[in-house]
Amino acid sequence: MILAPSLLSADFTNLQSAVDLIENSQADWYHLDVMDGTFVPNISFGMPIIKALKPKTTKVFDCHLMIVNPEKYIKDFATAGADILTVHVEASTHLHRTIQEIKANGMKAGVALNPHTPISSIEDIISDIDLVCLMSVNPGFGGQKFIENTYAKVVKLIELIESRNVMNRPLIEIDGGVTLDNAKRLIGCGADVLVAGNTVFGSKDPIDTINQLKSLD
Ligand code: DX5
Ligand code: ZN
Repeated sequence: MILAPSLLSADFTNLQSAVDLIENSQADWYHLDVMDGTFVPNISFGMPIIKALKPKTTKVFDCHLMIVNPEKYIKDFATAGADILTVHVEASTHLHRTIQEIKANGMKAGVALNPHTPISSIEDIISDIDLVCLMSVNPGFGGQKFIENTYAKVVKLIELIESRNVMNRPLIEIDGGVTLDNAKRLIGCGADVLVAGNTVFGSKDPIDTINQLKSLD
């Protein structure tokens, strides 16, 4: 299991300490939540923060764009240091083209689905993507309650991947409300990547929480 702590729940006045924590932990990736106040009702941070963090880190930058017209910023995120760039199905009119452009800019391409968006919406691009991010909360904020329908959605996604005989099997990422209580079941259903914001940064001992999450694998 790949664990991707979300910096959205870190102390923004001391991102260096969040970086030190992740670098010295068993966490695999950084999950970076970019919000524009239009696609979601919140504004977080953008390219300048990602660019500033990049040289201080060694782990994969998993950038989750919760923004409208994500295609406008593909080059900027590549330059800033994104390794994986995930756009929302609901925010990209020409999703196929967007995915190709992400790859042409040297990044892995991810596609995120809001809780109400069916797996069938990615049927025709499933072979083209490196990661599917299933939102298990409505995007916009950290610390929300996990939506139980996500387990069934993971199963449906695996059925789709298998029915299409996908050669480049996309990673299945779960984002929102992941806790020590639901992580094991998510892994059991077939999730490959777990994002954890509040569970990690809201805990008394984040390193120990990371270890516990990683040991569920
Ligand atoms: C929600 C973001 C998530 C969020 C997860 O809009 O996409 O990545 O940071 O935070 P938790 O784990 O606290 O739900
Ligand atoms: Zn996210």
